[in-house]
Amino acid sequence: MADEIETESASFLSTFASELFGSPLNLCLLAICLFLLYKIFAGRRNATQFEPRPPALAKLKKQDFTLEQLREYDGKAKDGRILMSVNGKVFDVTRGKRFYGPGGPYGVFAGRDASRGLATFSLNEQTIQDEYDDLSDLNSTQMESVREWEEQFMEKYDYVGKLLRPGESPTDYSDNEEDSSKDGEKSKDD
Ligand code: HEM
Ligand SMILES: *[C@@H]1O[C@H](CO)[C@@H](O)[C@H](O)[C@H]1NC(C)=O
Repeated sequence: MADEIETESASFLSTFASELFGSPLNLCLLAICLFLLYKIFAGRRNATQFEPRPPALAKLKKQDFTLEQLREYDGKAKDGRILMSVNGKVFDVTRGKRFYGPGGPYGVFAGRDASRGLATFSLNEQTIQDEYDDLSDLNSTQMESVREWEEQFMEKYDYVGKLLRPGESPTDYSDNEEDSSKDGEKSKDD
């Protein structure tokens, strides 16, 4: 019985190894994984090295965004604020700067709608479209994965508002707003 398990796990290991090293695609994936791990942990080390941390940005007042408005929050502006959309919801992910900041492992998502990238596990810039993406061609597994990411973001980051479809008008949140202390004024000529 124990022998059986041992042989089984040994053969699993060798299958695993030959799968891994036998295919160029898998080798590439492994390399990408190692690169991402390196970036994540290098970022973490830098984050603790250069104290004190800059003061946290004021919370954005609740507001909706078009794709174009979202693009301005890619972390490259003065304040370094980073917004990102998942499944039609816009989150302030500035706290996750080491992931989404310029040069971070998931920097492609900054100021963008990350839904399709997260659903298809792709960090390819081409995955994220410039036009509004209604995700209608994703299958149930992929949509489930988008919803799981959305839940995770709801727990970890501040929800700011909705991502607007083309032509959709922003919700007026002014009634239920206490601290409209700063920001939000982004003039767009359209
Ligand atoms: C290929 C190998 C990959 C490895 C080894 C890897 C590793 C990790 C690790 C260790 C974390 C947690 C970091 C922490 O909490 O300190 C993380 C978070 C994350 N990863 Fe990956 N990852 C990989 C691929 C991907 C891909 C392809 C995507 C995009 C679809 C992705 C998107 C994310 C996101 C969005 C987070 C959450 C960051 C946050 O909490 O805001 N990862 N990854
Ligand atoms: C959804 O699409 C992915 C990628 O094309 C595929 O691997 C997966 O099996 C599909 N799932 C379903 C339920 O169709």
